[in-house]
Amino acid sequence: MVFGAADWPEQIALRLAKRLRRQPRLRLCLPTGDTPSPVYERLVGLSRDGLAPFGQATIVLLDEYVGLPPTDPARCDARLARELIDRLDPPPAAYHPIAVDELSPAAAAHAHDAVAAEGLDLAVLGLGLNGHVGFNEPGSGADSPTRVVDLAPESRAAATARYGARAAPRRGVTLGLARLLAADELWLLVSGAGKSAVLKRVLEEVESADCPARFLRRHPKLHVLADEDAAMPAGLA
Ligand code: PGA
Repeated sequence: MVFGAADWPEQIALRLAKRLRRQPRLRLCLPTGDTPSPVYERLVGLSRDGLAPFGQATIVLLDEYVGLPPTDPARCDARLARELIDRLDPPPAAYHPIAVDELSPAAAAHAHDAVAAEGLDLAVLGLGLNGHVGFNEPGSGADSPTRVVDLAPESRAAATARYGARAAPRRGVTLGLARLLAADELWLLVSGAGKSAVLKRVLEEVESADCPARFLRRHPKLHVLADEDAAMPAGLA
């Protein structure tokens, strides 16, 4: 589904708000990144207007860096809290960040997988320039478990460039593709001309671990929600 670029964040937020009204106890996996940020901004407004009822919803974080201190603004949990969770009114019934401070990375992955295994009604995902989904970097198969991963250079660069973290983390914890594919429904958010080439690769080329997002096409309820800047140069709109 393709939306006008200016309208895209609003349309995605409205769609999510509508979903929450229909299913208030939604168990929802959410990503962080430049793609979902403007959607979250709109969602906060809808929540305050009583149109996005998160009060009974459960939010499960998609991925997290390993090795950033709890106060580091580059962390995924900090970003999601700053942009969405802490601004929702009412707040969600439950928010599950990834316990990278309390547990060893492998144990944090295990614990987070157990939370997601209780069921995800909807996983909202971004698309990395290298075809990653969460931190399922190139080389990840469709059966990838929730685990500790070595970050690809592009993912490391993003952590440094965006937030000035003291040292770019080398590892992360991510929900695995297998767990994401087990969600009832997937929304892949893609915006901006910079994502056009990777979107085309995801949609048109044969499945392979070189571009893990392609495995999402296996899901019967995958919705690719792109803006025209991402979709049109790829010939998709
Ligand atoms: P972005 O990141 O939304 O900041 O472009 C997406 C991703 O790398 O998964």
